[in-house]
Amino acid sequence: MTRRTVRIAMNGVTGRMGYRQHLVRSLLRLREEGGLDLGDGTTLWPEPVLVGRREHALRALAERHGLEHWSTDLDAVLADPSIEIYFDAQVTSAREEAVKKAIAAGKHVYCEKPTGTTLAGAVELARLADAAGIKHGVVQDKLFLPGLLKLRRLVEGGFFGRILSVRGEFGYWVFEGDWQSAQRPSWNYRAQDGGGIVVDMFPHWEYVLHELFGRVRSVQALTATHIPQRWDEQGKPYDATADDAAYGIFELEGGAIAQINSSWAVRVNRDELVEFQVDGTHGSAVAGLRNCRVQHRSATPKPVWNPDLPATEAFRSQWQEVPDNGEFDNGFKAQWELFLRHVVLDAPWRWDLGAGARGVQLAELGLKSAAEGRRIEVPELSL
Ligand SMILES: NC(=O)c1ccc[n+]([C@@H]2O[C@H](COP(=O)([O-])OP(=O)(O)OC[C@H]3O[C@@H](n4cnc5c(N)ncnc54)[C@H](O)[C@@H]3O)[C@@H](O)[C@H]2O)c1
Repeated sequence: MTRRTVRIAMNGVTGRMGYRQHLVRSLLRLREEGGLDLGDGTTLWPEPVLVGRREHALRALAERHGLEHWSTDLDAVLADPSIEIYFDAQVTSAREEAVKKAIAAGKHVYCEKPTGTTLAGAVELARLADAAGIKHGVVQDKLFLPGLLKLRRLVEGGFFGRILSVRGEFGYWVFEGDWQSAQRPSWNYRAQDGGGIVVDMFPHWEYVLHELFGRVRSVQALTATHIPQRWDEQGKPYDATADDAAYGIFELEGGAIAQINSSWAVRVNRDELVEFQVDGTHGSAVAGLRNCRVQHRSATPKPVWNPDLPATEAFRSQWQEVPDNGEFDNGFKAQWELFLRHVVLDAPWRWDLGAGARGVQLAELGLKSAAEGRRIEVPELSL
């Protein structure tokens, strides 16, 4: 085996996503496994170069994980010809500027969603990246969740017949921060800092719907800021200016209708933090992050509406668990592996900055729909 090192500038690694999912559970995990086996006698060895604003935080992180390279000077890192990939998991509002610099420096780019704060900005990044001839990608981790992989298996196996509808329920209670500390960063609740649940979650719903059921043709959303005041990381009260719940209806190419509730002000009475129920003429499924249950038309009960009597059937027990039939890796890591193969082997890859822009488009049009109180067509993006 020969070892090929790939140096990756990682910006925003002190954050929730950058640290836990991308650094620890993806690239460091790959190193624990001995690197990525490229299948041709070569092992790819990811060498993170941590980039950020706070020197002490970067140094502490590097020391904790035995990493040698970190810097607070993004320009200097991008000027280093040994760095091949720029990865960005900064706050959303900081992404466009940094990604543009990386493209200009000729680095391959991989980044968190949303790829921009406006559709125009996200499209510009996709165009710049194409023009520069670099390889580029956006995180679309939900596609790699075991529950959704099983759902994809059902779709591709023709289980549903004609798919009629998709009902998504996403959310949990995010504490206000006074009585118990909040479990999400405060910028998520300030529109002026790039926050809001539409901007955060509609990019995910766009690729989930598009890849599994059909492109989103129209969106109608109602948003709310249910909790108007929250307390930040320093315990100081602030006005929550961004939406913390969005109730969306999406018409899909192919005719299915999706309805997804997203909320940080809901208490969980589900098996998982996100669940999608898909109903088709031949069968239905309920998929979460890990599990997926099905009910075929041949095993569908025939309930009769009679509110005067107690329920006669235990409906939830009438569903059947879809088996794993394999091992599922962490979704972020699985996508990193595909991106690295794309960079070094030119392996197929479709989750590029153009796909990222589609997510930003759906968020932007979702907010417009809510502001104007009407359904809005989602035109196909031409890049
Ligand atoms: N794929 C997913 O499921 C998923 C989930 C959550 C968040 N995200 C995305 O990941 C990105 C980071 O989110 P997070 O929850 O990790 O946020 P976070 O607040 O925990 O981390 C943000 C990171 O950006 C850095 N940063 C750079 N400029 C900053 C500035 N001006 N102000 C504050 N921090 C700054 C911080 O130091 C930190 O490293 C966001 O774009 C978010 O949309 C993706």
